[in-house]
Amino acid sequence: MYNNIKIQLLDQTALLEIDRPKFLNALSRETLEEIEHAFQHDLLQNTAIRGVIITGAGEKAFVAGADIKEFENYSSEEGMALAKWGHGVMNRIYEFPKPVIAAINGYALGGGLELALACHIRIASDNAKVGLPEVSLGLIPGYGGTQRLADLAGRGKALEMIMSGEMIDAQDAQQWGLVNHVVSSDELISKSTDLLKKMYSKSSHAIAAAIKAINAGLDKQKDGYESEIAAFGDSFGTPDFREGVDAFLAKRKPNF
Ligand code: CAA
Repeated sequence: MYNNIKIQLLDQTALLEIDRPKFLNALSRETLEEIEHAFQHDLLQNTAIRGVIITGAGEKAFVAGADIKEFENYSSEEGMALAKWGHGVMNRIYEFPKPVIAAINGYALGGGLELALACHIRIASDNAKVGLPEVSLGLIPGYGGTQRLADLAGRGKALEMIMSGEMIDAQDAQQWGLVNHVVSSDELISKSTDLLKKMYSKSSHAIAAAIKAINAGLDKQKDGYESEIAAFGDSFGTPDFREGVDAFLAKRKPNF
């Protein structure tokens, strides 16, 4: 039924694997549509599923971002529409009434880190690397990263990561408050399922209410999300975007 994701049931947990390892699991439109569909239907409606783990196929990447090849010729309007839709998908996960854990098994970059930030909890393997490298493409994060990174790590760290475009390793990510736990690759899924199992012994109604209440407290950020969408769209009209994306595709350093 899906071409880019796989869903496997591990008892009461759904393991959603983003499955484009050749492209480091980059979020193509179709991949994002499938994630959206899964959270809208299967994962939400199946009462046997009490929690979700999102991870990436292969050993190298969780998700290396939105699919750059797909948006290389986007106009500002198309960029803004992409961000609006991406925000909708990320919000669906952020507000999902069952616990969602990102099991970060390698690179979580750009839209990939934003996907992880939208999850309720993040657990990283010790080889994971996370970052928001959009400025290298003449863009800014467009799936909620400017807001959610600042929520978790604070304004100073968020500005450092976004303005430098540099990745940090799993240990620093934990220190920055981005990930809850760091474990070996072998333990990543078992650590995630163990944590979820503890939650399954509690009231699922109370867990859904807690997610809603905590999110409600951060709702003041709504305007920030709107500015991110507008600024992400505007970036597509700039010469820097052209140079950044051309450089990525030609496998050379951009000259800004
Ligand atoms: N989109 C499309 N393709 C991607 C991709 C992406 N985000 N990331 C990697 N790939 C592809 C590469 O193009 C390559 O494909 P080909 O073999 O066909 O050339 C394949 O995946 C393997 O990648 P690399 O050869 O580059 O692997 P590497 O080990 O040398 O480097 C990396 C790994 C550092 C993660 C590098 O791939 C990279 O920098 N990727 C891009 C990361 C990025 O900029 N992400 C942000 C995207 S924009 C975004 O997400 C916007 C938003 O906020 C919504």
